[in-house]
Amino acid sequence: MGDAHKSELSLYFCKKYSLFVEIGKRINFKADMRIDIITVLPEMLDGFVNTSILARAQQKGLVEIHVHNLRDYSKDKHRRVDDYPFGGFAGMVLQCQPIDDCISALMAERDYDEIIFTTPDGEQFDQPMANSLSLSKNIIILCGHYKGIDYRIREHLITKEVSIGDFVLTGGELAAAVMSDAIVRLIPGVLSDEQSALSDSFQDNLLAAPVYTRPSEYKGWRVPDVLLSGHERKIKEWELSQSLERTRRLRPDLLEE
Ligand code: 6GU
Repeated sequence: MGDAHKSELSLYFCKKYSLFVEIGKRINFKADMRIDIITVLPEMLDGFVNTSILARAQQKGLVEIHVHNLRDYSKDKHRRVDDYPFGGFAGMVLQCQPIDDCISALMAERDYDEIIFTTPDGEQFDQPMANSLSLSKNIIILCGHYKGIDYRIREHLITKEVSIGDFVLTGGELAAAVMSDAIVRLIPGVLSDEQSALSDSFQDNLLAAPVYTRPSEYKGWRVPDVLLSGHERKIKEWELSQSLERTRRLRPDLLEE
């Protein structure tokens, strides 16, 4: 093994170790977290938050996810929450009052660590942000909307503006779903095997190694021999070298940080 490879190895184990310490610190307390999502399209999120891992996490009492329909806070008899923009621009804009009333009602009940607004011009969501948000007790996610929202909400109520990537979605609901999924799966106890969140792609700036299952040969396509060898150290070495090779080839930017 070359020196460069050895130093890469020790850097890798350093990062893994600090992650263990970070997660170890929170194993002692019950990680109950609450996410409040505010949207004009609650039906887009209801199915998502009540399915699969997020549903199970809620059933286990590890997280509560509440979806709020912004229209419930409208004072208009037609439940309208938008109006024409000042300045004669095209389109419509979500008004201050329903958003302020909804956020204020939530803030009267409990303290929030962050009040997040999803928007393509926000800070880029990534694994470190998911890790840090997963340590929160309570967060609000206000879903952006193609119409835009009155900027005063962003100036006075929002504590963090987040984008999930350099592309434009019609609304922030998918972004809220993406963020909730990435955050909730990091809460201890949500995944059946705590290790699995630790060995994720990106968790240590390395892409994951390939995985295989039975049969060991399918249509002549063979699983790498080393994985069938039962030689634990060799398998670990293979896994790491695959991670490094795939990261170098597919995401060299991750190794530069
Ligand atoms: Cl957070 N919202 C919208 N509308 N588009 C996006 C986004 C968010 N992130 C990337 N594209």
